[in-house]
Amino acid sequence: VHSGLILGIESSCDETSAAVVRGGREALSNVVASQLIHGDYGGVVPELASREHLRAIVPVVQQAMQQAGVAYSDLEAIAVTAGPGLAGALLVGLTFAKALAFGTELPLIGVNHLEGHIHAVLMHSEESFAEASPLLALVVSGGHTHLYLATKTPENTWHYRNVGKTLDDAAGEAYDKVAKLLGLPYPGGPWMDALAKHGDPKAVPFSFAQIKTKATGNTAPKLAREADDQTRRFDLSFSGIKTAVRRYVELHAMRERIDARARALQESGLAKGKPSDPATLTRALAYFEPETLNLIASFQASVTGYLTRTVFAATEHFGARGLLVSGGVAANSELRQRISAEAARRRLPVAFPSIALSTDNAAMIAAAAWPKLRAGQFAPETMEPTPQLRL
Ligand code: KG4
Ligand code: ZN
Repeated sequence: VHSGLILGIESSCDETSAAVVRGGREALSNVVASQLIHGDYGGVVPELASREHLRAIVPVVQQAMQQAGVAYSDLEAIAVTAGPGLAGALLVGLTFAKALAFGTELPLIGVNHLEGHIHAVLMHSEESFAEASPLLALVVSGGHTHLYLATKTPENTWHYRNVGKTLDDAAGEAYDKVAKLLGLPYPGGPWMDALAKHGDPKAVPFSFAQIKTKATGNTAPKLAREADDQTRRFDLSFSGIKTAVRRYVELHAMRERIDARARALQESGLAKGKPSDPATLTRALAYFEPETLNLIASFQASVTGYLTRTVFAATEHFGARGLLVSGGVAANSELRQRISAEAARRRLPVAFPSIALSTDNAAMIAAAAWPKLRAGQFAPETMEPTPQLRL
């Protein structure tokens, strides 16, 4: 068959997802089962995640096939996330995909989760954007903060060069940790974003130090050392600001107020609500005094400004012809605003994922597999999940 149809399967963290995508662009279905259970623990619990994936994988795949209205005989391949992610979680999706590929005699394609996030943007951006090369890609989520230079290869697949990454926490992780420190519900990123609009971003002067280039020893050849030094100019760090917020909280004796507020948000049921719902946000705001709102606004301004500066320093350095931003934090309103404004000023094309595709989903995995299918890049039967898989 030459249907262009690929079934994608994603299970790297706390979302079980399956999708059918045609030609790397058109999602006929994209079913996502989110594991709400982790909210009670304030973070993803790996053992619980594996168990929930096991429960969800069969119905999620069935639903994706049904919604797309296709049969297994219509498919050209099955794509699955090979890593990075939680070992047990990855194993569920990969084992299921392998068995399904074996049973249906379809080829299997392994996809890097980060490449998936990049394709979440490419799959619905203008064709002209997806044809431009090189592109600078910022993947910014709860698990990752990476900068890649993406270049088209002669086989029409993409080649990725990592040109920057966080040396400690991911940006989303910093958001979630600071949110937790301030007694906000989990996941804290969307709460921080919504509350930041009600504070003064200039109230607390946080600063980010430029990452210093470390000498990498004298054994590396000079050329390699220089290449490495250039790359490291775009590394990032988020642990400093997290510590600065903690110190601010202690210095201003905010602990008791924070704990009281966290309890109140739980008891009122607001903690289970979504900050994107205006009624929920209005009710929640009644629990926040200006000092905390200013702290949140200052954090957000500082983090999004830092990301924006670093990204455009890299587009300039590498002569990128377009910029794409993906991952959960790409949903952040201030980050979008700042990056869009700066890109417009520089007349640089920029693309973000749709809201539905910005968090983990399988459509992006099937989309990333499409160029690999055309280039005949299939996975060996021995493919194993790789928790630390690099792109
Ligand atoms: O891509 P994703 O769904 O999962 C990972 O692969 O990590 O990203 C989730 C992360 C969480 O840290 C969440 O707090 C953050 O994205 N996030 C946000 C916003 N929406 C989600 N962070 C800041 N502002 C937002 N609006
Ligand atoms: Zn992700």
